[in-house]
Parts: sequence; structure tokens; C-alpha cells
Amino acid sequence: MGSHTCVALIEAGFTPIILDNFSNSHPAVLQRLAQITGRAVVCEQGDVLDTPWVEAVLRRHQVAGVMHFAGDKAVGESVAQPLKYYRNNISGAVSLLEAMQAANCQTLVFSSSATVYGDPASVPITEDFPRQHTNPYGHTKLVIEDMLAAMQVADPAWQLGVLRYFNPVGAHPSGLIGEDPSGIPNNLMPFVAQVAIGKRPFLNVYGNDYATPDGTGVRDYIHVQDLAQGHVAALQRLLQSGESFTVNLGTGSGNSVLEVVKAFELASGRPVPCQMAARRPGDVAQCYAYPALAQRLLGWRAERTLADMCTDVWRWQSGNPNGYQ
Ligand code: UD1
Repeated sequence: MGSHTCVALIEAGFTPIILDNFSNSHPAVLQRLAQITGRAVVCEQGDVLDTPWVEAVLRRHQVAGVMHFAGDKAVGESVAQPLKYYRNNISGAVSLLEAMQAANCQTLVFSSSATVYGDPASVPITEDFPRQHTNPYGHTKLVIEDMLAAMQVADPAWQLGVLRYFNPVGAHPSGLIGEDPSGIPNNLMPFVAQVAIGKRPFLNVYGNDYATPDGTGVRDYIHVQDLAQGHVAALQRLLQSGESFTVNLGTGSGNSVLEVVKAFELASGRPVPCQMAARRPGDVAQCYAYPALAQRLLGWRAERTLADMCTDVWRWQSGNPNGYQ
């Protein structure tokens, strides 16, 4: 998401500075960003937990606003290693906010997640739905949202944009940047892509007895480019209005696992064999957004289709079978 948002920021006339420790990304992305945008993007290598370093970087570049993507996001891993999540996500956010405060930079766009809705009572989901968590990863997003609200009470000068992502998928249409999961992908789209290219023999479909049209789980898949443009719109809104907000970033419609598989087969021209498997613990039947608030506040809406998402993932996957390696 960070690299795709860099492209969108540059296209909108901003000058992004990347802060990354490359724990879950690859330095090769910098060269790819230069290829796409025709510009070298400044990158500072370090850790968000290093507060004095973050403060120094913010001061050195006279940063006007921050987008915080530096969180871990694998649900299963968070159950196995909760402290990793509490340290990187929560302590990381505390460190960043302290650095921002010290550097007099009080504009932040935060990557939250639809995971804060837990198992929603109904769909589509509006921002005022009750929040709950079902795993440590989700808990960290909830805690950070609460922390931001407390910061706002303590100092109304903070300009905070909380973005609750639904299911980001896709890749840049150039095929130069995309998702490069290490090991076996946890998420549906990268797994489907690896089956299509022959890296894995079949997809396990986790449950076909949900109360959904075809029995498989329904999610709101949103193209990473739409999501990246949502970040730019959020930053612009914060800088113009000075008011904080929390919005859903989704398309407003859901697709089942089998619909995604079919769309991917069509986009790639490759078969994606499936095997029915038991439900995955913690999964919900349906999760999709009511995205009207983002449209009203940010003047933003998702435009790309599921077919676009699959086509772009396939271009990335087939052009970079080993990711950034
Ligand atoms: C999960 C997290 C979410 C996180 C997101 C991105 C929860 C409940 N979900 O979303 O917070 O932001 O990942 O990292 O916390 N599926 C299969 N076979 C597979 C993989 C997935 O059938 O091999 C199905 C799942 O059961 C689900 C759908 O595909 O119905 C999407 O799964 P996935 O891509 O993992 O995303 P979520 O679980 O929705």
C-alpha cells in the first residue's frame, strides 16, 4: 500500500519521503517507483520504533503530513506472536505520534481495517457499527483508533484521518509493483495468483456452507490504486478542512470466493483448481462497506472492477514470478 500510495501522491503533486526498515518490503521497489513516476523517491531507512530518528527525519524534510502503513497485518501470526503485534503496531504508533508531536507535525492518515467491525450484525457496514476484535491484530487497530481519539481530545490541533480498509487487492497496471508475500500467502488473491501460475496445485476454499448466495465467504475487494487515491483524498481533506474523520474505504459491494476464482480464471486464461475445505477459524460470512461517507467527505469512490483487480494481479504475478527477488 505504501508504494502504491507513493505513486498516487506524486501524481497529485506531493513529494513523498519513504521511511522503511524493509522488514516486510524490498528495496527494489524504489527503482520500480522511479520507473513508474520518472522521479527518484527519497527513502530513509530506519525503524518507526526509533522515535528520535523519526523526529529527525520529519524535521529534516519539513514534513506536512504522515501516512502510517508500518504495521504487521497477518491475523494467524498475531495469534501465534501477539507481542510482535503489540510492539510493532501499538508501540510503533506511540513512537510515531511522539515524534510527530516533537516535530510539530500533527497531520496523520492512519491505516485501520474493517477488522475493527469483527463479525458485523449486518451488511453493508457503516462507520457507526459497534467495534470488536477477534484476534491480536484486530485488537491493535482498535487500540490505535482509541489512542488517536484520546490525542484529539488532549489537543484539538491534531488532524487525524482514520481509513478502515476493506480487502485491498490488485497491483499497479504497469506490472512493476505489487504484493510480494513471503512464504505461503494467507490472503485469497495472492494465493489464487500462485495457483494460476502453477506454484501451488489448488486453492482451499475455506467453507461453502455460509449464508451467502454460493455458500462461500463474501468480501469487499478494493483495488490498491483506488485505495491509494483514497489516501491522497484523505490527506487533501485534512490539509484543507483541518477536521478529523474516520471512513470506510471499500467499493460497497461484495464478491464470493468462487466469484473471485472465476474472475481470475477469465483474466489470466489459466485454470484455478479448487478444493472445498473447512471454515477458517475467525472468518465471517460477509463483510462489505457502505462507502457513502468517504464519497461525501473526500469526494472519493472506488472505480476499478474485480476484473481490473484480477488483470493487474495477473500482470504483476506473471511478470514477476519471484516477486522483487
Ligand atoms: C483478513 C483479515 C483482515 C486483514 C486482511 C488483509 C480478519 C477477520 N481478516 O481479511 O483484517 O486486513 O486479511 O490482510 O481479521 N479464503 C479461502 N482460501 C484461502 C484464503 C482465503 O477460501 O486460501 C477466503 C476466506 O475464507 C475469506 C476470503 O477468502 O472468505 C478472503 O480472505 P482473506 O483474503 O484472507 O481476507 P480476510 O480474511 O477477509
